[in-house]
Amino acid sequence: MNMPLDKLPGRRGLAVRMVIAAALAAVMSAGTWVVTASEVQALENGLARTPPMGWNNYPGYRLNITEKLVKDTADKMVSSGMKDAGYTYLNIDDGWMASTRDGSGNLQVNKTKFPNGMKAVADYVHGKGLKLGIYADAGLKTCGGLPGSLDHEAADARLFASWGIDYLKYDNCFAGPGCANSTCGDTKIPALKRYTAMHDAIVASGRNILLSVCNWGQDDVTSWGASLGNMWRTTTDMNNTYARMLSIYRKNVALAAFAKPGAWNDPDMLETGNGMTATEDRTHFSLWAQMAAPLISGSKLTTASAATLALQLNKEVIAVDQDSLGRQGTLVSSTSGRDVLAKPLAGGDVSVVLFNSTDATATISTTLAAIGKPGNASRTLTDLWSGAKTTTSAISASVPAHGVVMYRVHG
Ligand code: GAL
Repeated sequence: MNMPLDKLPGRRGLAVRMVIAAALAAVMSAGTWVVTASEVQALENGLARTPPMGWNNYPGYRLNITEKLVKDTADKMVSSGMKDAGYTYLNIDDGWMASTRDGSGNLQVNKTKFPNGMKAVADYVHGKGLKLGIYADAGLKTCGGLPGSLDHEAADARLFASWGIDYLKYDNCFAGPGCANSTCGDTKIPALKRYTAMHDAIVASGRNILLSVCNWGQDDVTSWGASLGNMWRTTTDMNNTYARMLSIYRKNVALAAFAKPGAWNDPDMLETGNGMTATEDRTHFSLWAQMAAPLISGSKLTTASAATLALQLNKEVIAVDQDSLGRQGTLVSSTSGRDVLAKPLAGGDVSVVLFNSTDATATISTTLAAIGKPGNASRTLTDLWSGAKTTTSAISASVPAHGVVMYRVHG
């Protein structure tokens, strides 16, 4: 259900603005100021009570997005069971725009790629029971060199609302005169200012649009991301390599305190099916679920293998990600590349991931007390990838190189 944001002045208005003002003042002043998670007022637009799930074209197709691809992917999201598993948002990334605005300054779709315009695409996607996401940039140009939304926020948000857009990924390239990206020194316009402008424009548009902040973990985004957006990128781009997945995981796992219903750390999209081994894909999906990350599939769904679809459709692992308590899993221990993570779940269960980041098989062990279940009683564990159940007072498994074992510990 869409709830007009301008009907929520008490929750969004003053409190949010006070936090933003405080953050701005602090960022502007010294640099020694540190925000704690509890100080950041969440957006509270009613969206993303659990981490958003969906699909995006960028990992699989880069800027080659077309109306046909969107429609074919929407069909596949339904027929493959992805929609029923919770993948609701079909997100169009960079590449959908014409290279110039029109004479009145409005963004235009690329008519070759989208011959029937974006409203027709939104109607098609909505007709499948899905929601439509789009991409724009909080600078002078998108990362692909198309028109940016800086100083056009109000008109662009109104345009997106008129099309029926449900989700906006807002990128950070060309963030000021002379900038190609946001590390461009004095000519850069502060991210907080630019993202606040789009947040306010969305509110003014009257449509409840999920705002996905994409400034790659820069500009102290964890101190303000939750007050403006429902999710915020915490790192540079994910790609289809184990090395990148590992480095992103290591950064994102440390940010658990900032995640909560309505506001999520975003370690970027899923590269499952795009080049890692089956073991690494399973690790990637398990770690993202354990970190309560948005699950935005980047695989080529229309041609995805049965194995990739089955992996992304693991209902038990998805349930960990989507758990209503909304806690991001944390590291219980990390010894020589052997990590144990625990995530408290609603109702008292705990999900546990034993992650072997090394290049050789290893035994990884932890205790019930360490994962938050003190006492001597045995517990039932469900292995979320094999389905096997065991009753035990010890948690220990042989884990393949780059692999995981993932359990739900009951009760
Ligand atoms: C990057 C962004 C990617 C993708 C790309 C499009 O800045 O992090 O996820 O959106 O731009 O050009």
